[in-house]
Amino acid sequence: MRIAIVGPGALGCLFAVLLFPKEQSGNDSLQILDHSPERAHLLNTWGILYETDGNQRRHMVPVSANPLEIGPVDVVLLCVKSSALTACVQTCTVLLSPRTLVVFLQNGIGHMDIQEQMNLPAPPAFAVSSEGATLLAPGHVRHAGRGMTQLGFLHKPSDQQQHLLATLAHTLQLSGLDSSLSPDIRSQLWAKLFINVGINPLTALYNRTNGQILTSCAARGRLKNLVREAEAVARACNIVITTDPLQATLAVCKKTATNISSMLQDRRHKRPSEIDAINGAIVREGKRLGIATPFNEEVVRQIKKMEDEYSRD
Ligand code: PAF
Repeated sequence: MRIAIVGPGALGCLFAVLLFPKEQSGNDSLQILDHSPERAHLLNTWGILYETDGNQRRHMVPVSANPLEIGPVDVVLLCVKSSALTACVQTCTVLLSPRTLVVFLQNGIGHMDIQEQMNLPAPPAFAVSSEGATLLAPGHVRHAGRGMTQLGFLHKPSDQQQHLLATLAHTLQLSGLDSSLSPDIRSQLWAKLFINVGINPLTALYNRTNGQILTSCAARGRLKNLVREAEAVARACNIVITTDPLQATLAVCKKTATNISSMLQDRRHKRPSEIDAINGAIVREGKRLGIATPFNEEVVRQIKKMEDEYSRD
């Protein structure tokens, strides 16, 4: 199976190093597509540095900034942020054949709508991952905590797409990435969304790790209100909720206590965040359904203000 991973961010690098078989260096079973030729050159020269439990290993995964060098593959794993998706899928068209399986791996739920406007050759799949990955520098990923990757379709796939997804799940499993097929990926996307709604904006605003935000009464109170609003919106959308979203979010804060959330990483690197796809999505859905979401509105406003400030620096 030929796989292209689009975007060498934290999860892109993590999946690439674990999926790329060491004995297949020089083989084209897996390639990374990067929009930046400079970074592609850097990663091809130095490889990807994978760090876990204090140990480091370098992996020479092939990286290209030219999709024509990769050509059509069996699976495209889209690991870019949701704000970059539309532009990225246009660049990726040469990776697609009528039978290519596209898998979306983004935080939030914004990409569920975006993919509908993309005119993909076949129904895409969605992945939800709780692997803890931090990008310490370009091509340097720390695997901070083991998680689980769930994969599934929103719409009925063809037998061929179903088979490709099952093969991908199996390949992930063989690479040491716990993974399974989910019959209700929409609910899994929302279950992850609750966690990101509570943790991401507050870690970024308070400049604290996932565990540290629980030590402040004010942040803890805000987290509760953010997640409860998201839960009300989800219930109005008929999303199946099997685990209490607030308890699940608090448990992730504790389990990933030293993690620097992706939104805090964005703040520290002065990059645009995924606020629109996370809390922004709750505000939009709330408006559509007539549900008030003042706490989410407020964090969206604050994060955007912070982004405006650092984009002017
Ligand atoms: O976006 C993130 O950082 C992660 O999804 C999570 C689960 C909040 C852990 O840091």
